Amino acid sequence: MILLDGKVLSTKIKEEVKEKNQALKNKGIQACLAVILLGDDPASQTYVNSKTKACEECGIKSLFYHLSQSTTQNELLALIHTLNHDDSIHGILVQLPLPSHICKDLVLESIASNKDVDGFHPINVGYLNLGLQSGFLPCTPLGVMKLLKAYEINLEGKDAVIIGASNIVGRPMATMLLNAGATVSICHIKTKNLSFYTKNADLIIVAAGCVNLLRADMIKKGAIVVDVGINRLENGKIIGDVDFQEVAKKCSYITPVPGGVGPMTIAMLLENTLKSAKNRLN
Ligand code: GUN
Repeated sequence: MILLDGKVLSTKIKEEVKEKNQALKNKGIQACLAVILLGDDPASQTYVNSKTKACEECGIKSLFYHLSQSTTQNELLALIHTLNHDDSIHGILVQLPLPSHICKDLVLESIASNKDVDGFHPINVGYLNLGLQSGFLPCTPLGVMKLLKAYEINLEGKDAVIIGASNIVGRPMATMLLNAGATVSICHIKTKNLSFYTKNADLIIVAAGCVNLLRADMIKKGAIVVDVGINRLENGKIIGDVDFQEVAKKCSYITPVPGGVGPMTIAMLLENTLKSAKNRLN
């Protein structure tokens, strides 16, 4: 079994981003990411802190807008409108989930698509679905693709199963794997017989937010397993969606949690922000 080490790869990517960012600075462009968080959800705060800290490490400027839970939709849209028109800002990220009184889809659509470093705007989703290279790709599935590529895992013709159909991970992950030549099945909460799919899969991506969802008896020997889950136990320990101990004995490759997909997500956000800033040169 080989560990797919997202910590090591993300560190290397961050160093590359830092160098490329310095070269861009020398051309007079200071890459800048605006991060918006509504409310005080501890998990969201942790993610946002990791994102702004990573920016700092690479010399990317970050602006943090920490708004109250009771911010109105119009107030949020007004802030996004201002950021859209500010030429010194290259990326805009609204941390999800948003409070229930705000329409997430409306907010994501209001972000200028050329600053949408999360890749959630319908235009960027459309580019991905058309198999085009233009636009921004969502950070978590893009991070998974980079990790698989770094370990020279060829996806052509592979039977891939994704557990989870979210707009953030499952759906874009499926499209990226399809674009890479895999045969893709998307399983979700209503899937009748999950094992039927996972037992036949060469590659399993688990993004359900459910502890021990994938067990060793559900996979075939030598499968590649990617765990996108981040679950915080009562004792504070972070674990994924995969029964790592047992699955690791049977699979060929596996991502650890933490230290697998998580750091790759942040590295891709930095790459997307740098890409957006570089686009200003064109
Ligand atoms: N919430 C969970 N994952 C993400 C992400 O990748 N981007 C944003 N904006 N919010 C999230």
